[in-house]
Amino acid sequence: MRILVIGGGAREHALCHALARDPEVTALHCAPGNAGIAGVAEVHPVDAGDGAAVAALATRIDAGLVVIGPEVPLVAGVADVVREAGVPVFGPSAAAARLEGSKAFAKEIMAAAGVPTARSYVCVTAEEADDALDAFGPPYVVKDDGLAAGKGVVVTDELERARAHARSCLASAPAGARGNEGGDQRGRVVIEEFLDGPEVSLFAVTDGQAVVPLQPAQDFKRAYDADRGPNTGGMGAYSPLPWAEPKLVDEVVETVIRPTVDELRRRGTPFSGLVYAGLAITSRGVRVVEFNARFGDPETQAVLARLRTPLGGLLHAAATGELAGFPSLRWSEGAAVTVVVAAQGYPSEPRTGDPVAGLDEVAAEDGPDAYVLHAGTRRGPDGEVVSAGGRVLSVTATGTDLTAARELAYRAVARIRLDGSHHRTDIAERAAREARETREASGSGADSAPDSADSRQLAE
Ligand code: AMP
Ligand code: GLY
Repeated sequence: MRILVIGGGAREHALCHALARDPEVTALHCAPGNAGIAGVAEVHPVDAGDGAAVAALATRIDAGLVVIGPEVPLVAGVADVVREAGVPVFGPSAAAARLEGSKAFAKEIMAAAGVPTARSYVCVTAEEADDALDAFGPPYVVKDDGLAAGKGVVVTDELERARAHARSCLASAPAGARGNEGGDQRGRVVIEEFLDGPEVSLFAVTDGQAVVPLQPAQDFKRAYDADRGPNTGGMGAYSPLPWAEPKLVDEVVETVIRPTVDELRRRGTPFSGLVYAGLAITSRGVRVVEFNARFGDPETQAVLARLRTPLGGLLHAAATGELAGFPSLRWSEGAAVTVVVAAQGYPSEPRTGDPVAGLDEVAAEDGPDAYVLHAGTRRGPDGEVVSAGGRVLSVTATGTDLTAARELAYRAVARIRLDGSHHRTDIAERAAREARETREASGSGADSAPDSADSRQLAE
């Protein structure tokens, strides 16, 4: 199988890293890729958002599958263009990707499908937004309707800040990929009730009908330790979740993923690709915080680190409508932890162009259970790796349990030298500690989660 991956972040590096291990994958290409991806795939300087150029590249390299990583090309319809060119695609059509592209659309689907989520109002005027804020009270949750690269959501106790964000969402006229239906040029803002409780990211592969869940992960969205600082694209992740109920995956598939996939199919816009359910485990049960229409970043780095089933076959089955009857997924025992190394100034004003050193030392000293996935990197004039984005690296490690995985991940992080960089030091810390305490109390073995009750997920 010849595969073309679209995108150039650590998520795409994780996809390429997993696809390169699949014996059925005979050629691996990526556009535009980055300095790390160039080590496992042939990279091409093609814009991920240019559907015609992506389709032309796929045809030229005789790709049997195109895997689209980021949301922007999906919402812009790149998958549709490539499919029209006759190449199977892992990734939803623009119509189905609205599940991520418009929060108001996602709410409409959830309401129709009976999926539990925060109560919300979709507002088109400042007066409506003010009324909605008053109706819910603090903490206020204010969301831009369209894609905003993780910057569209404000959660605050301050009414003035909530109002100001609502006004700025309303003032931003939807352009291009943004969420509104054709003709309606007003911005929209979604005001919703605050959800308490830990967050879980659950990914499910679907061909529009059959659903195959992956193992759950947790993301760390704030920039600094102890969940302080601004929201980011994600500063780290771990998987699986030792604290989660074993039935969580089955429950989310039955109450969230399957009804959503069925509703989109019923509307004539079947979703083929990856449904990412961002969930809050509240005191009143599981609620959907958001849907994404693609693999999450950095959760994918941690989830795929433990997937033993060859990834190419799974994604190809989804892309070609053959997921029903796909063999049970196999996972390695233990846990995986990903720590993001970010550039100085990330997320507000990341500095780029700094040399990144220590990569060879990780490979020599910590591999193969620890490895560095590249996000924003490129080659400098002398062939050296230099930073080229806000999130620069995703350092990923596996171990017999979360404690072992995070120790190895942080040992590898300590070898990286990037001037001014910062990373969180508490990724998976609490989960690892709680798992150790539970283990000590029960006198049992390693701290990783019991395997999911989902019968499709067998541990090796
Ligand atoms: P979203 O882009 O919708 O995932 O929101 C980004 C982040 O904002 C989420 O991961 C949560 O941490 C937070 N958030 C979003 N919606 C809510 C909510 N209703 N209640 C509490 N926190 C929320
Ligand atoms: N990790 C959050 C996201 O991928 O949207």
